Amino acid sequence: MTRTVYVNGQYLPWGQAAVHAEDRGFQFGDAVYEVCEVRDGHLIDETRHMDRLERSLGELKIPLPMARTAWARVMRETIRRNRVRDGSVYLQVSRGARPRDFLISDAVDMVPTVVCVARSANRAKLEAAAIVGIGVRSVPDMRWGRCDIKTVMLLPATMAKEQAKEIGAKEAWLFDEKGFVTEGASSNAWIVDSAGKLVTRPASTEILRGVTRTTLIDLLKRDGIELVERAFTVAEAKAAREAFTTSATALVTPVVRIDDSAIGNGAPGMLTLKLRSHFHEVAEAAAL
Ligand code: PDD
Repeated sequence: MTRTVYVNGQYLPWGQAAVHAEDRGFQFGDAVYEVCEVRDGHLIDETRHMDRLERSLGELKIPLPMARTAWARVMRETIRRNRVRDGSVYLQVSRGARPRDFLISDAVDMVPTVVCVARSANRAKLEAAAIVGIGVRSVPDMRWGRCDIKTVMLLPATMAKEQAKEIGAKEAWLFDEKGFVTEGASSNAWIVDSAGKLVTRPASTEILRGVTRTTLIDLLKRDGIELVERAFTVAEAKAAREAFTTSATALVTPVVRIDDSAIGNGAPGMLTLKLRSHFHEVAEAAAL
């Protein structure tokens, strides 16, 4: 089946899905994105992802390219044309194309570039791999000061993940100059500390406020599980009882090793697996 990509109002075969050579997303990383899970023919946490997309655009003063109802249609049509039942849908909005110029304040006539891509995933295979747990590598956080905006400036994340791959780890956990974990290269970071408390870093400009993180906090409230929002060091994470990452594509994924240190007894933690299995009881699931 030929994959179809939505670009600026058109559904195009994958090989023809192109944007302008002077698109600011390409030249300046001047673009934001979202990734939503598609599960069992439903769009997961669409409202929160769209809220965050609008916030990212607002922070960068990129005009809203379309209304929510239009986004909803584009995502569903892209998912339908690619026959995705389980997988993800990716949205990207750049400020648009114009002759290269650092300044944007007088670019009042710019039309944002909009791209939507849907992709299938083998859920059974991902599930089997996830519950075994992953290793992560601790890597210095080299990103900028506005990690709360979900921009496409992903080179530091790519480099960190490549460093993780060198030691057979699936994700990088980034740490700041004081040794505190900020987040994963493409996920949020959590531990169950040595006192048994669930801990994650508070949302700030240093991390992305993950939608999966926010929905997981709803699950914790529902189940009366206490959460402590505080920073933790790499050393503390290595001595933790449990560790896991969250993202729209990895969901709640157990971390069983950080660098050379096994977490707990080296197997996924009980609380982690419980949170993974109950996550979709609280997440929003919208029909396609
Ligand atoms: N990444 N932190 C970073 C830096 C991320 O890139 C992501 C998501 C998250 C988790 O956010 P959410 O729970 O909303 O997916 C945290 C996506 C999945 C990606 O880049 O593919």
